[in-house]
Amino acid sequence: MRILVIGRGGREHAIAWKMAQSALKPELFIAPGNAGMRTVTEQTGAPVTLVNIDENATEALRDFALEKGIDLTVVGPEAALANDIATVFAAAGLRIFAPTAAAARIESSKEFAKDLMQKYHIPTAEYRTFDNYDSAKSYLDEQGAPIVIKYDGLAAGKGVVVAMTAKEADEALRDMLLDNHFGKGKVVMEEFLQGPEFSLLTLVNGEQVVPLVIAQDHKRAYDGDRGPNTGGMGAYSPVPVIPQAQIDWAVEHIMRPTAKALIAEGCPFCGVLYGGLMLTKDGPKVIEFNARFGDPETEVVLPKLKNDLTQMILNVLDNKKVTPEFHPDAFLGVVLAAKGYPGSYVKNIPLNNPASVSQQVFCMGVKEEDGKLHSNGGRVLFVVGRGKTLKEAQEDAYQGVEKMAHPDLFYRNDIGWQATR
Ligand code: AMP
Ligand code: GLY
Repeated sequence: MRILVIGRGGREHAIAWKMAQSALKPELFIAPGNAGMRTVTEQTGAPVTLVNIDENATEALRDFALEKGIDLTVVGPEAALANDIATVFAAAGLRIFAPTAAAARIESSKEFAKDLMQKYHIPTAEYRTFDNYDSAKSYLDEQGAPIVIKYDGLAAGKGVVVAMTAKEADEALRDMLLDNHFGKGKVVMEEFLQGPEFSLLTLVNGEQVVPLVIAQDHKRAYDGDRGPNTGGMGAYSPVPVIPQAQIDWAVEHIMRPTAKALIAEGCPFCGVLYGGLMLTKDGPKVIEFNARFGDPETEVVLPKLKNDLTQMILNVLDNKKVTPEFHPDAFLGVVLAAKGYPGSYVKNIPLNNPASVSQQVFCMGVKEEDGKLHSNGGRVLFVVGRGKTLKEAQEDAYQGVEKMAHPDLFYRNDIGWQATR
């Protein structure tokens, strides 16, 4: 069994680590991966090869998969999906667990996602789409603040402005529609929703939807949910503020209908459909969909999963029944990021050996230089604590974080605050 994992971050490290533990005794290839992922071999015994091919070099990845006889490919990053790697691999007769670019529009185009939800009555914030400033501004004058303004397209997580005042909203509209800050495009203006957020990852193939346990991310850079939005500074699972009945409701009324809607629209989904949901006073509503594993949610959800992930993905691809099972333990992980992130950040920070701590460490942005690991990105390491309770998992995680800390790295001290108060 030969597996190819595409991507280079903590998410892909966690996917490889989990898939490597399979009873199918797989051999893993990770393209391009990062030097910190070599520990997968020490931890699981599975051979791991880092392949020096960029995640965006779709044809080169296909040729590599054909040449090596790869049996299954799993894709992490959204950019690879937008390159339509799923269609390219399928055309070459290669098995791949990833949505086509057409299905991945549920993440890449906010307008596509919102129109789909409206047409199929999937609960989400009320919205309107605009491509010119004047009509957007009159809608703003009608609606007032707070209001949410989202650039329709990939904006590296910076295309969302939750405007608490009409002035802020107007600035965002000018920025996006007059100054074309992210390029010439449209904006979606949305009703402001309130409530705790959670991430519901599901393994999907056509109509089949297998929900994993939920997680909660922490998107803001600093303690107290302050500072700029980031890719995510920490995550934990389970999420006690969200009752199980609401999760079940979200699976039946959001995730399954969305999978069906994508079939009806002629772009059936295969891969991970990620619901970014908010529990409002009117029940769960969609904030956004992603067409891939979340990062860092994956790094706490997969440790909680009992099933053999490799077998599970193969079964989903074969449309066989899959029953997910989870460890009762709590998992909580903290990101160590380079000082300055999410702006321009310190580079090439020497790192302590992740294998020297008892906690599981997933390497997010890491490279090897002179035989030692160094940072290679904004988010660098993800340290996962485990415990009977979230409080214990939190203590465990921060013990590991302190050992991995460095003056040029920073981290939030309050990951899990909503669950450990
Ligand atoms: P997104 O990139 O769409 O996930 O948005 C980033 C963050 O903005 C979300 O995690 C929410 O915290 C916030 N947000 C997005 N849409 C809304 C909304 N309609 N109401 C309130 N907050 C929102
Ligand atoms: N952690 C949020 C995301 O993966 O988009």
